[in-house]
Formats: sequence, C-alpha cells, structure tokens
Amino acid sequence: MAYPYQIKSLEEYQQNYQQSVMDPEGFWANVADHFYWRRKWDKVLEWNFKDPDVKWFTGGKLNITENCLDRHLGTLGNTPAIIWEPNDPEERHRVITYRDLYNKVCQFANVLKNNGVKKGDRVCIYMGMIPELAIAVLACARIGAIHSVVFGGFSAQSIADRIQDAQASLVITCDGAFRGNKDIPLKSVIDDALIGCPSVKKVIVCTRTRTPVSMIKGRDLWWEDEIKQVETMGNPPCAAEEMDAEDMLFILYTSGSTGKPKGVVHTCAGYMVYANYTFVNTFQYQPGEVYFCTADVGWITGHSYIIYGPLSAGATTLMFEGVPTYPDAGRLWSIVDKYRVNILYTAPTAIRSLMGYGLGPVNHKDLSSLKKLGSVGEPINEEAWHWFKDHIGKGRCPIVDTWWQTETGGIMITPIAGITKEKPGYATLPLPGIQPILVDENGKEVKGNNVNGNLCIKFPWPGMLRTTYGDHERCRTTYFATYENLYFTGDGCLRDEDGYYRITGRVDDVLNVSGHRIGTAEVENAINMHAGVVESAVVGYPHDIKGQGIYAYVITERQVHDPELTKKDILQTVSRIIGPIAKPDKIQFVSGLPKTRSGKIMRRILRKIAEGELDNLGDTSTLLDPVVVEEIKRGKL
Ligand code: WTA
Repeated sequence: MAYPYQIKSLEEYQQNYQQSVMDPEGFWANVADHFYWRRKWDKVLEWNFKDPDVKWFTGGKLNITENCLDRHLGTLGNTPAIIWEPNDPEERHRVITYRDLYNKVCQFANVLKNNGVKKGDRVCIYMGMIPELAIAVLACARIGAIHSVVFGGFSAQSIADRIQDAQASLVITCDGAFRGNKDIPLKSVIDDALIGCPSVKKVIVCTRTRTPVSMIKGRDLWWEDEIKQVETMGNPPCAAEEMDAEDMLFILYTSGSTGKPKGVVHTCAGYMVYANYTFVNTFQYQPGEVYFCTADVGWITGHSYIIYGPLSAGATTLMFEGVPTYPDAGRLWSIVDKYRVNILYTAPTAIRSLMGYGLGPVNHKDLSSLKKLGSVGEPINEEAWHWFKDHIGKGRCPIVDTWWQTETGGIMITPIAGITKEKPGYATLPLPGIQPILVDENGKEVKGNNVNGNLCIKFPWPGMLRTTYGDHERCRTTYFATYENLYFTGDGCLRDEDGYYRITGRVDDVLNVSGHRIGTAEVENAINMHAGVVESAVVGYPHDIKGQGIYAYVITERQVHDPELTKKDILQTVSRIIGPIAKPDKIQFVSGLPKTRSGKIMRRILRKIAEGELDNLGDTSTLLDPVVVEEIKRGKL
C-alpha cells in the first residue's frame, strides 16, 4: 500500500485517535518512519507550552525536498508532479513530471547558491501562480534557505515590512502576473518596496508577462540568464543540504488582532510529517489521482496543500494561475473537465461567488471525474455546502470542511473523506494527534456536548508553529498566555450533541474577508495614515460573498465636502499601505466613536450597527456619550 498510515475506516480512525492520545510519541514515530531521513531522530517530542518550547524528532536529519522529489524518482519519475493551467485558457498548459521538477529545482537551487544564498538566509518570494513559484520555494528548501512567500495582492509597503522583519537578502519575483483580465506589475511593486530594504542584495526576476521592467545594475538578474549560467556549468546536481529536524523551513506572515503581521515559523521535520499525514488522510489520496487546490501559494493552504503535502506524497497537484471567474464563471469546472480532476479543494467564498452565476456555467461540463471535495478558510454556510454537494459533487462526493490555521501548519479538525459522517457547516472531528478543548472566558474547560467555548488545543502536534520570527515573546503572548498550558486558536466553537465541532468564527479582532485574514488594527492604522483622518474603528459585517465585509467608521478633522472622493482617497491609502485586499467595503463618516469612560472603543456596538441590528445593541450603560451612538445609527450605510 502506498501510505501505510492512511486510515481506511471509521473504526480505524477511532483506534488511531485513541492511540495518538495515549501514546503520541509512538503514534507519530510510526508515521515518521515512512519518510526519508538522513539520520533518524533521538527523541520524538519535547515540549512545554509555557515558554513555549516545542521540538519534534530532535536529532533527526533530513531535507524536505528529498522527500518531495528524490525519493519518488525511481517509481514516479515520469508521473506528473505539477500540472499547470495558465490564466488564459488558450495558452498551452504545462505538465512537469517528478523528474523534470527535480531537475528544475536543482538547477534553480544552484542559481541561488551562485548568488551567495546560504543555509539559514531568508529569501522573499513575490510571484504569480506559475510553476517557477513552486520551483523557487523548493529550491530554497533544497539549500536550507528560509522562504518567506508574500501574496501578490500585498502592497509595496507590506512587502517592505516583511522583508525588513525577516532581513531577507534576496528576492525572487516576476516581471508581472496575470490574474483574470488584470496584469499585476510585480517587479515594479518590488522596486518600490526595496527603497527601504538595504538587506536585499539581489533580485531574481522571472519572465511571465513581458511587462517592461527596470533592471538595476548589480542588483537585478533575469531568472532565465541565471539558469543559462548553470547550464554552461554543465547542470551539476545540487545535493540537498542536511537539515536538523527543528531548523526553520519557512516564515509566513499572518495578521493578528494587534500591530503588524507576525512571521509564523515552521520547521523542517514536524511540518513535513504533518502536511503529508493530513493530506493523505483528509483527502484519502490514492496514487494516480489528480488533485486541484485553488488556493494561492501566498497563503498557508498553498504551502501545505499545493506544494509540500501533495509532493511529499508523490501526488499530482494542479496549479492554476488565474481566477475562478475568468474568462467566465465556469472556469473551475472547465479545468476539472479538462484534466479529469479527482479531488477539488476550494474556499466557501469562491463557491458563493460562483453560485451567483447559476447553473449555466456548470451545465455541459463533465464533472464525473470528481470523487472528493474540500473547503477551507472560513465557515461554510449550509446553502453553499449543499450547492457544492449537489451541483458539483452531484450528490456522490464527500465534502471535507477543513478547519485549520497558518499557525497549525496543516488541517486539524475535518471529516475524513468518505469515512466520517458529514454534517453541513461542521468541521466534525479532530484528526488523530489533535486534542481540542473548549474553554470559557476564564479558561475553565467547558465539558460535555451541546456547548460553546473558545477553541484551544491542549497537546502539541508536529505541524504547529514554533515561534514568531524574531520575537518569541509575541508568540507566547499571542497564543500561549491567554489560557495556561493551552494553545489558543482565536476561534469560537460549538460542540454539538454528537461531539462534532462547528467553528463559529474569530473571537478576537481578526476579520476573515474572502478567506483572507486581516487585522482590524492593521486596517485602522492604514486609514489613520490618511491626511485629515483623526481616528477610525473597523469591524466586520456579514457579506453574502466574502463571508465578512469591512466596515470602517472614520472621524475626520474637518467636515468632508465631497464624501465620495474622500472615501476613494482613503481606499487608495489602504491599498498603498496594506494592499487592495484590505480595502473597506463601507466607510461611514462620524463625529465621534462610542467609548467607555476609560476611553476604550466599544466595538461590540459598532459591530451591531454594521450588522444592521440597530435595536439590539445590548448593554450601553458604560457609554461615555450615548448621543454619538444615535448619530451613528442614523448615518448607517
Ligand atoms: C478560519 C487558513 C471555519 C478560522 C487555513 C481560522 C475556518 C482562520 C475554517 C485561519 C473552516 C479556516 N471553518 N473557519 N473550515 N478554516 N477558518 O491562517 O477563523 O489564513 O482561525 O488559515 O480561518 O486562517 P488562515
């Protein structure tokens, strides 16, 4: 059997789960045994959540790319590793076999080495969804450089913040990226970002859109020229760097409730084992199946379930450059049809937006290859769940509603496809190795079923974050200090009469807009940068397609003469500071904000107003100035 640790039945799930709780070290050692190690570990797990200090497979030596590439060459050399579908359906697609991918990764790893990149150096990757992005990621891992991928929708300022925080020495980008009918000038954004980033010595630019770019002498290099150089050297192989199990593999920045985004750190061995285990089990991947995840590699879903999970399992992963609505709303279904996709993993926001186009774009597409469907990133509403089930899965495909986070590295609570009895809107049960616990405000465990609480995890799992880059204390206070000896997820959760988990959404000031995590404080800081803005407060509100929309209350210095123009200016400012993904959907100008006597903004009230629950504001007795609330209610958008 291809994956000896693949769960085959509900009984086996229960047995595995029990074992993973009784003997976590034995359980994970059994899984880890099926990977390629240069040297096996001495100890499976050492941990405390106080510092926190978590180490998996200490003493183990490995390289994740030997597990994703080298070890498959004998059996899967000619099997497609990556199928790439371009933005424009008329353009030729690409199929990259495991052997091709191995060669290309080695080649580009040598390019990085030629440019002075060494183990432990940080490399920032800002590219569109082309195979070279996966190649760049794997090439970094090959030589032990730490990659930090930044999503193409972030602004120059956001990139600069991330580059500075990580002190990256090299950037890999493209001239531009195609997304739908847009052409995003990536290199030009990087040029702006690098004005304040002296740590960056080199920029490697891959050609994609042929957008004119400025190439700075001594700093900027063409990907293609660098590859040619390696070819003239005779294409030497690139031995994989031997990594310690706990060496850093990558940094991925994500938003929290306060301040700037933090760099979540994942390490080599635990992340690899966990991404692979969760991929193989959740989707019940069978050799030969074509697997398509619609996420962007700029997010954790792309890291774990386009690149590392599938490739470490020798799977065929389909990578799509474009967007679901281009050239029309049937694009995803055309792709499924064209490549006979067996597993489709996407986001509720995409499903909701496609539902809006009716069944026209679905009809006449052959979706009979589909066997399993998945959802990730935000709670999936029942309507979207049923539409996905009935019209895409034709009633015969299981749906896995996978709950997890950037910090968890891989899927945590989910049905196992075809094995766990599903319930719309429920992430159902924890995977083996995951011990969820619900607590009340005071950190007291909420026991039994039919209860609500804050979702925490009480025991380490291999894929968990180890630190936040350059600021361990921030990791401790954000995740491990709210409740003693628990990892706090920031999510609220319901456990129903069957013991099934349903994630109800963030309980902190983090928004989830189209599956993208955005901190309210970040958006407020950006709005406040705008000249003339005195103060602002940002909350989420239910949005039919995005899940949550962004509602901003803004106080300006002077009376606004042309509100529409000022709103556009503010949007422009937010785009500049964070990126277009953080633009508020609604901006309401107000003369004051509801505050307590101690000066704290009462967001609860603002949230209620944004949700349209004007008659149900709850307790307003601690308000300093109730008149403000009346004014805000009158001006509600
Ligand atoms: C939310 C994405 C409900 C949740 C992998 C979490 C979900 C945040 C689900 C993490 C789901 C993710 N049901 N909510 N199936 N999956 N979330 O770090 O609030 O981008 O905390 O990771 O998304 O977002 P992140």
